[in-house]
Amino acid sequence: MNSPITLKEFQQEHGELITNHMVKNVERLSMPPVLKEAMVYSLQAGGKRIRPILLLAAIETFNQDPMLGLNTAAALEMIHTYSLIHDDLPSMDDDDLRRGKPTNHKMFGEAAAILAGDGLLTYSFQLIAEDPALTSDKKVKLIALLARCAGPEGMVGGQVADIEGEMKQLTANELENIHVHKTGKLLTFSVIAGGIISGASDNELELLERFAFHIGLAFQIQDDILDIEGSEEMIGKPVGSDESKHKSTYPSLLTMKGAKEKLQFHLDEALMSIDELPVDSSLLTEIAQLIVSRNH
Ligand code: IPE
Ligand code: IPE
Ligand code: MG
Ligand code: MG
Ligand code: MG
Repeated sequence: MNSPITLKEFQQEHGELITNHMVKNVERLSMPPVLKEAMVYSLQAGGKRIRPILLLAAIETFNQDPMLGLNTAAALEMIHTYSLIHDDLPSMDDDDLRRGKPTNHKMFGEAAAILAGDGLLTYSFQLIAEDPALTSDKKVKLIALLARCAGPEGMVGGQVADIEGEMKQLTANELENIHVHKTGKLLTFSVIAGGIISGASDNELELLERFAFHIGLAFQIQDDILDIEGSEEMIGKPVGSDESKHKSTYPSLLTMKGAKEKLQFHLDEALMSIDELPVDSSLLTEIAQLIVSRNH
């Protein structure tokens, strides 16, 4: 058996590819220059590329060619990027810094930022629909799942619940429900899309879904922890943002120690799920650990 590819190798190889692929595809579209500039600005502003990397790694795990998922991975990262542009707007989280750079509306103004987000969101579906590498059957499945995960039943719904939860004391269940939607659903798409593209069985897709559910929660708990314990340099955005918005977070509800225990619980559960896959899951295991540590 070949020795499994390491995460560092995988990330180095694919992170830049994803950025280049997104930028190249947006560059070739015909649109007003300011819109293109605003879209490309946020695509090139860095970012860990966790979601597309997970998607490609899931394909690799099933011993298929990760390049089959390149357009879907780019589409997913464009939706994530749009969600961040809108999340930072004055009417939402009102943040000035993202990925270590001025936020999109700080650079281009609010109208252009809203429309750059709209452009990234809409174009992502076009990119999947026009993908010559996948069958129509798989593309319909991917488009439906992406819409479900990103839309009102997924991330958008989670964002609304998150805003409604501001200034309120939430229960741990309410907080978990927000995170499952706001962050978890797009991460779920990453992993399941890799399975769909690879032709994984229903049972395998279920294991992937369980893995993604727990990784999504672990990821968001870490995001909350780093908002307190991290540095601006490390997270590319100001720390203390949750507290200043009076947000319920895992550390605020469970104490910092409780939040860290919960993080470990979800990581363990995630790793147990993919351990059951009939294939070598070491790459996904490494990525799960990376997401939780953010040590990269
Ligand atoms: C940030 O996501 C927003 C959350 C869902 C917590 P990431 O931490 O993946 O952001 P980038 O893409 O690396 O900037
Ligand atoms: C953003 O959540 C999640 C989405 C955009 C879906 P947060 O508001 O907690 O993320 P940061 O802290 O701004 O990155
Ligand atoms: Mg927010
Ligand atoms: Mg925010
Ligand atoms: Mg946060």
